[in-house]
Amino acid sequence: MSTWANLGLQDSASPLMEQLIFFHDHALLILVMITVLVGYLMFMLFFNNYVNRFLLHGQLIEMIWTILPAIILLFIALPSLRLLYLLDEINEPSVTLKSIGHQWYWSYEYSDFNNIEFDSYMIPTNELSTDGFRLLDVDNRIVLPMNSQIRILVTAADVIHSWTIPALGVKVDGTPGRSNQTNFFINRPGLFYGQCSEICGANHSLMPIVIES
Ligand code: CUA
Repeated sequence: MSTWANLGLQDSASPLMEQLIFFHDHALLILVMITVLVGYLMFMLFFNNYVNRFLLHGQLIEMIWTILPAIILLFIALPSLRLLYLLDEINEPSVTLKSIGHQWYWSYEYSDFNNIEFDSYMIPTNELSTDGFRLLDVDNRIVLPMNSQIRILVTAADVIHSWTIPALGVKVDGTPGRSNQTNFFINRPGLFYGQCSEICGANHSLMPIVIES
């Protein structure tokens, strides 16, 4: 989970999140290289004394500085597209969990496992145990197996919510009247915390998600 002074991404707990982190680092590297180059050029402009009164056009340099950024963008666009299709792939799930967003709590259904249904409310600060996390712990956790493909169906009962777990690389909107699908694979045991990330009303920040694996 995320704690104080953590400015980067959380450690991944699924193969998809691992790929997302690789892509993030790759894109950031390109961004740094562009920023350094452009920053250097702009800085050196202050010390340029050359003046050419007859310079009106430069076909070659225009060609270069149009095509070169387009090629650089391809190096971001193609891996991004690969990741997009990778995230969308469903690989024969062994469990399906249905999560329904409400104002302001989540409810869950294990439709293919004993038909378990329950609500999951945040634990208020005054009822929190000493080892609990404020605004993050819930009364009923989701329990899921590790090392297996899990399918998630997300929907909502009132307004749009978003079922988001950073360590697993999952973020799916729950929309009333629609059912959205995603999947993940938890590759280590632990507690994985998430929060609703679609502005859904006054208590938007009070509907966290906890997975126990
Ligand atoms: Cu539900 Cu924000």
